Amino acid sequence: MALINDPRKLFAYKLGTVLSGEKKILTMLKKLEKRAQREELKQQFRHHREETEGQIENIEQAFKALGEKATGRTNPVIMGLSEQADVLYDKTDDEILDTVLLGGAAETEHVEIALYEDLITQARGMGEQQVVSLLQQNLEQEQHTLEEVKRASEQLAQRSGRQPSAVGSAPDAAGFSDTGRE
Ligand SMILES: [Fe+2]
Ligand SMILES: [Fe+2]
Repeated sequence: MALINDPRKLFAYKLGTVLSGEKKILTMLKKLEKRAQREELKQQFRHHREETEGQIENIEQAFKALGEKATGRTNPVIMGLSEQADVLYDKTDDEILDTVLLGGAAETEHVEIALYEDLITQARGMGEQQVVSLLQQNLEQEQHTLEEVKRASEQLAQRSGRQPSAVGSAPDAAGFSDTGRE
């Protein structure tokens, strides 16, 4: 198999992993919106889903600016986050589900931020200013979303910390007793 030895080709490949990742995240956000118990969270996830649609367009624009075809590439990290989130959703009672949804959203935002930061560094190095500004828009939305998610998570933790546990005394009753992959 021929190895990639051109930094621009490598960049396009990594951009493709982010394109696939964002498409997967779009479906994750639809699920988050549907499963969220609190109306303000539903709205928050809906808003970020709309932003994500724009982010996908920005990535496609970035491919265009590079003169490359927009091609999605496998993104095992985002796939894994999605898989893990699904496992947890199925195990969690609706009453405390919002905490799980926010935790998963924060993990995903951290990964997205890391991906965009790296791509922006590389694009700047290649002198691709248009690509830098397109990806910068996406990065700022992810950073803003992470702050909102953290704030909501903090508020929820404060509130639930003052209430008696909804789970009960037997930890295994919550279904978290498994040790391996299902
Ligand atoms: Fe995103
Ligand atoms: Fe995001």
